[in-house]
Amino acid sequence: MGLQDARTELETFITGLPKAELHLHIEGSLEPELMFALARRNGLELPFKTVEDVRAAYNFSNLQDFLNIYYAGAQVLRTEEDFRDLTVAYFDRAAADGVLHAEIFFDPQTHTDRGIPFAVVAEGILGGMAEAQARHGITSKLILCFLRHLDEDAAFATFRMAEPWLDRIAGVGLDSSERGHPPGKFARVFAAAGEAGLKRVAHAGEEGPAAYVWEALNTLHIDRLDHGNHALDDETLVERLVATQMTLTVCPLSNVRLCVVPEIGAHPIDTMLAKGLRATVNSDDPAYFGGYIGENFKAVALGRQLSREQLVTLARNSFLGAFLDDPTRQDYLRRLDAYAQKG
Ligand code: ADE
Ligand code: ZN
Repeated sequence: MGLQDARTELETFITGLPKAELHLHIEGSLEPELMFALARRNGLELPFKTVEDVRAAYNFSNLQDFLNIYYAGAQVLRTEEDFRDLTVAYFDRAAADGVLHAEIFFDPQTHTDRGIPFAVVAEGILGGMAEAQARHGITSKLILCFLRHLDEDAAFATFRMAEPWLDRIAGVGLDSSERGHPPGKFARVFAAAGEAGLKRVAHAGEEGPAAYVWEALNTLHIDRLDHGNHALDDETLVERLVATQMTLTVCPLSNVRLCVVPEIGAHPIDTMLAKGLRATVNSDDPAYFGGYIGENFKAVALGRQLSREQLVTLARNSFLGAFLDDPTRQDYLRRLDAYAQKG
């Protein structure tokens, strides 16, 4: 088989691989084309002339560089229909990438702080999730993220706003600027979320140190770790994550674009697997980082020469780490096993 044929076959295998996406910011799936369409629909001026100009601006040196542009882009989202269109567009892409289940983040404070009611944001996204299930059969869950550059009182205010929707929100998360904003800052609001029966996840060890991962474990009592790259700097921490089978939602293209790793060929995804960590592959903010979950799988498969067995392990980890009920999890795992056997 030629090199090109082998590559095509690998890509086909990855696209068909049943998988779950566990780290996706819905605002980060806003493609420039939709950004322009929504700006037009809402009578807004963008500081860019063309879609190409927007893409050319996506040249980031670090997380904060990206966040500045990401929060600016989100301003075109105004109505329930906008949030629904954004969500449906993401799930159309996910379905084409073999995603059976997705657990998606949203950042309510990015919207409520500019006067958009929480209800508009939540109903729009939940409506899009329901439509995706009807269209593609994809199951999904919603995770409310607190912005860590704001204070805990603001997080509490957001949590109170979310109260009427808590039966349709699976968990809380923590995102935005990591350095200088340790997880412990949000210990009380995470405790309240836990008491309300919600799952808890947090971004930690993306740019921040291994100490922030320890803090997320010990003070936020997280059920899943978002990113976790810097956990590799601390062997004792790795042992704890392996012993508890903590799921890490790793985002390879994001890591390259935000300079968390120097290049895809240096990504530690296979090191994580070799250490026994329950690592998964996810897309983070695909409109900004150059690819959805399939592209992330392909990038690490080629960049790190992953075997099919390793790719299947990554997909299995995604179902093991998802907040699914047991019958659904078993059903998805059986579908994965059937695919792996015939593939
Ligand atoms: N918000 C959206 N994407 C993020 C990331 N990769 N890290 C922290 N906050 C985010
Ligand atoms: Zn993220």
